[in-house]
Amino acid sequence: MKSQEIRSQFLEFFKNKTHKIVSSAPMVIKDDPTLMFTNAGMNQFKEFFLGNTEAKNTRVVDTQKCLRVSGKHNDLEEVGKDTYHHTMFEMLGNWSFGDYFKEDAISWAWELLTKVFKIDESSLYVTVFEGSKDKDNLEMDQEALDLWKKIIPESQILFGNKKDNFWEMGDQGPCGPCSEIHVDIRSAEEKAKVSGAELVNMDHPQVVEIWNLVFMQYNRKANGELENLPAKHVDTGMGFERLCMVMQGVQSNYDTDVFTPIIREIETITNAEYNKNEDTNIAIRVIADHIRAVAFSIADGQLPSNTGAGYVIRRILRRAIRYGFTFLNTKEPFMYRLVNVLTNTMGDAFPELKEQKQLIENVVKEEEHSFLKTLDQGLVLLDSVINSASSKTIDGRKAFELYDTYGFPIDLTALILSERGYTLDEKGFDAAMQEQKNRSRSASEVSKEDWEVLLQDAEQEFVGYDVLETNVRLVKYRKVTSKKEGKQYQLVFNITPFYAEGGGQVGDKGYLEAQNGDVVYILDTKKENNEIIHFAKNLPKNTTDIFKAVVDVKQRQRTASNHTATHLLHQALREVLGTHVEQKGSAVHSKYLRFDFSHFSKVTTEQLKEVEDFVNARIEGNLPLEEKRNIPMQEALDAGAMALFGEKYGDTVRLIRFGQSVELCGGTHVQNTGDIWHFKIKSEGAVASGIRRIEAITSDAVKDFYADNNEVLTDIKEVLNNAKDPVKAVVSLQEENNKLKKEIEQLLKDKAKNLKGDLLNELQDVNGVQFLAKKVDLDPAGIKDLCFNMGANATNMFLLFGAENNGKATLSCYISKELAAEKDLNAGAIVRELGKYIQGGGGGQPFFATAGGKNPGGIAEALDKAIAYIK
Ligand code: SER
Repeated sequence: MKSQEIRSQFLEFFKNKTHKIVSSAPMVIKDDPTLMFTNAGMNQFKEFFLGNTEAKNTRVVDTQKCLRVSGKHNDLEEVGKDTYHHTMFEMLGNWSFGDYFKEDAISWAWELLTKVFKIDESSLYVTVFEGSKDKDNLEMDQEALDLWKKIIPESQILFGNKKDNFWEMGDQGPCGPCSEIHVDIRSAEEKAKVSGAELVNMDHPQVVEIWNLVFMQYNRKANGELENLPAKHVDTGMGFERLCMVMQGVQSNYDTDVFTPIIREIETITNAEYNKNEDTNIAIRVIADHIRAVAFSIADGQLPSNTGAGYVIRRILRRAIRYGFTFLNTKEPFMYRLVNVLTNTMGDAFPELKEQKQLIENVVKEEEHSFLKTLDQGLVLLDSVINSASSKTIDGRKAFELYDTYGFPIDLTALILSERGYTLDEKGFDAAMQEQKNRSRSASEVSKEDWEVLLQDAEQEFVGYDVLETNVRLVKYRKVTSKKEGKQYQLVFNITPFYAEGGGQVGDKGYLEAQNGDVVYILDTKKENNEIIHFAKNLPKNTTDIFKAVVDVKQRQRTASNHTATHLLHQALREVLGTHVEQKGSAVHSKYLRFDFSHFSKVTTEQLKEVEDFVNARIEGNLPLEEKRNIPMQEALDAGAMALFGEKYGDTVRLIRFGQSVELCGGTHVQNTGDIWHFKIKSEGAVASGIRRIEAITSDAVKDFYADNNEVLTDIKEVLNNAKDPVKAVVSLQEENNKLKKEIEQLLKDKAKNLKGDLLNELQDVNGVQFLAKKVDLDPAGIKDLCFNMGANATNMFLLFGAENNGKATLSCYISKELAAEKDLNAGAIVRELGKYIQGGGGGQPFFATAGGKNPGGIAEALDKAIAYIK
């Protein structure tokens, strides 16, 4: 059975059991401080499990794009080495939100596997939670055991410990006992030798877990205790690629039709052969796996970058490039060429790949290009580290520097060193790495106390689209501590006018006023599991009071102004540059806005002007806000709104229209475009290949911008003696400056010529060498010219010049090539040695080298020592 069919049969099976088929949530998670990537099918349903939101459909089925490369579930370093781990994978899942529980979950899973997919019953094993004697003191899952006993011989039921059979999403959150289903795909001969039961959960590549049925019934609190969830749920996750392996009768995920087309393409491009030698196999698997993770992330709007999720993506891509570079000898970008076959194999199930193919190819190619350059530079740097090494062991800190500053991978460093007969001081490297980790960990570590709940079962309401001030009550609060922010309180209210950070827009600030007039400032507002959380430095004295919650109006207005301008900018770009322009990122602050979009060349000055004029015309047109809340998605799309890739939309959406600009948006906006006053683009540039970024300002920020510019202009005029035409005055100053520069250059040349004559006369004969060591008054470039001029016709000249420029010292050593060879002299080594007198260092070639240092006082001594080299 083809993988496409396996996927659709899974979905159909549960659809027939009245489940609603929903689409995969984005793999890259935005607006959730607790998670960067979807790492399990249940992430998008977290709020239903916790009871924060009620699910509209209590039975759901889907295939979810997952990425396990950070946090609690991280498989990155395994990938490629075995045949069944992946960074990105699909998790097939059926869900019950307070609906059916263990009985149906178990019997349907069995029915699907054995009746629909016709997997041989005797090759299946199931596990049941054995209970735990630790502080949780959990009982064995008798209910699951009894249910399994009805359908499978007891010899195929195994007990599992907490690690394998109690599923927890993270340190906190929903959790519960689980039953895993494992399949043994070994040959009959192998099976006769060792029973599959002995190999379950033993990392055997042919006895693998394919499905995990989790019975969610607890919530793990911050203090480590378990509490019962308000209702019981089912969360199942089946590894799609493993299921395909079983169904297609192959021994490795990489031999299924999910991967083989990609592997064939890698073989074609690189001339490598899969299944020939283990290093090549690992490299090919790494590349085949990683291109999927990277392509899907870019399709979700996450570009490789230097921070956060973007950095994780960059590291994955670089890991693949490096395996190619080292084991497949790929010295040119090649991974971008795999996007085509990936799109052909998965584009039907995931149309985002098809639609964004060109962009994905461009971004991957550009990344490959720049990393290959880094690798080249790294090789040169590593060369110089090796050349200047005083022993056969290379300092781990130096290797760390290469890794940290230049992104040069450590395993490559180790490999090259061993090829050259050196070893790496791994302890030094690990220590440097650990120090850095400690530094960044302690800066980002956050500890959270448990919620103190004041109002049970209170539903939260956001009223901030309509009012900026309202009376509220505290539902719950908790203390959080981090190095960066210190101690803070998180507050949840029954009703709130505060907008939580989201959709690129910053969270509101403001204050709470108690009945006695006490004030607590709200520093930021964010969303977590669909709850609006307010951050405050202090807790109000009387937490059960009724408070007046007031949003900072000024900041809100400025932010709204930038948000509306962002919509107009989006419209303008599609109008001026073309409809290929798509939003790729947006940040709306009170002081500025930033908009990333797809476009393949620089936006010209004329186009930028046109865009600005377009937006300003709509601001002057005083277009009113037309807002529709809670309308069905289809209605919004029919009205002309565009859904963005990588964005998660609910069943109903909010539509924002200003004239012809129509967007799906949860942000806050001005009532009328006239409120924006004016729009000004401040910069345009590239973020990645095919992605441009515009930064712009509106309203008060534009006024400040013009006022500042005006002030600078006034200052310039004043400096130019109040010239009527300052531009003309500056141009004439530049012309004069150029003329003077040329004159000085000529004077210096003349001076050097004279100097050369004088110095040739000063040469001494020392042991048949024409020798001179002297301090001169020239800059380094002048000294270099002087040396080569003086030595032009000589074969036995040795010169050392010292000079002082801007308080710094330089030494330049010149040795005729013939002399250097005959006497085995090396100018580079000489200046390195003499450099210590001027407290510096340097290097160069055997016939010419320079050193720089911070102690001009040492020049005389260095010059004195020079003669020793030829005596
Ligand atoms: N949450 C479980 C897992 O990720 C089942 O979906 O394995």
